[in-house]
Amino acid sequence: MSTVTAQAPPEGADVRQAEFDAKITADQRIEPRDWMPDGYRRTLVRQVSQHAHSEIIGMQPEGDWIASAPSLRRKAILLAKVQDEAGHGLYLYAAAETLGVDRADLTDRLIEGRQKYSSIFNYPSLSFADVGVIGWLVDGAAICNQVPLCRSSFGPYARAMVRICKEESFHQRQGYELLMRMMEGTDAQRAMVQDAVDRWWWPSLMMFGPPDADSPNTQQSMAWRIKRDTNDDLRQKFVDMTVPQAERLGVTLPDPELVWNDQRGHYDFGEPDWVEFKQVISGSGPKNAERIARRRAAHEKGAWVREAATAYASKHAQEATV
Ligand code: 3HC
Repeated sequence: MSTVTAQAPPEGADVRQAEFDAKITADQRIEPRDWMPDGYRRTLVRQVSQHAHSEIIGMQPEGDWIASAPSLRRKAILLAKVQDEAGHGLYLYAAAETLGVDRADLTDRLIEGRQKYSSIFNYPSLSFADVGVIGWLVDGAAICNQVPLCRSSFGPYARAMVRICKEESFHQRQGYELLMRMMEGTDAQRAMVQDAVDRWWWPSLMMFGPPDADSPNTQQSMAWRIKRDTNDDLRQKFVDMTVPQAERLGVTLPDPELVWNDQRGHYDFGEPDWVEFKQVISGSGPKNAERIARRRAAHEKGAWVREAATAYASKHAQEATV
């Protein structure tokens, strides 16, 4: 990060806005104690809290398979991965709280459907091959989307991303390794992997958000350097990265329009089903209701722990003042 002394702001201009703009232009970090425009704060609360919700709900599709993992090794790997996702959610709720929001309120917004989480976590995980494909494609897409966020202008978000991205690369590798093993197995295992790839490919492309032309937030988020790349650019990067991996694995990606375009230096690919995308993000995906119901039940079941911790903390706070 460069250090800069803000240009002397024009006479009468809002000094704080000028200082903020100078920092963004100089690619400097904005910290929680810094002044920031309300819109910048609102955008960060929206993106960071929805990111946190995604990590927490994202524990469910793979969590369903922990008890049925085919070996102790696979169970241990999957336990570690799902536990990591919980940690990612907690780092991100902590980053959101530096913006003045309360994590209990954010959880209420999630449970009551007033905030989103990633569309990808509203699909069923039907076999253990899904665990590998989620690691390979979903965590692979997350890496494409999240590595640039390590350079996001808001300090706590960018720093949370550094640690999260290191763990995501373990997630992607363990998924790909599982699939490599299955592809060396029986015809039935190979068919399970191909079936999972067919089901998760297009929803993985939707993770990057709507096309740039239909993205109301991208332009401003890019201007504030919250986002560093557009949805379409990251989607293209993910496709270019994944096609050779699919070939190495021996699976077919379910897109007849997928072809290398020498002129562009990228793969051409088909259009995701944006009608399906809109249905899923508005709550009518295959597993939305079930996943939110489970999050609500876990939250209600854990109320006694939160009450006990609060009572303990206030008792000790009183004793400290005596
Ligand atoms: N799922 C759900 N909602 C989505 C979405 C998706 N895949 N893509 C876009 N949306 C929503 C946006 O939230 C926005 O709605 P809102 O204004 O009510 O929040 C609307 O669709 C328009 O989309 P935009 O492109 O204008 O919105 P953004 O500029 O916020 O871009 C984003 C969307 C690319 C997801 C961006 O928010 C982002 O990069 N977020 C951080 C990364 C993230 O949240 N990843 C989620 C996956 S977490 C994960 O992968 C866990 C890993 O361990 C597997």
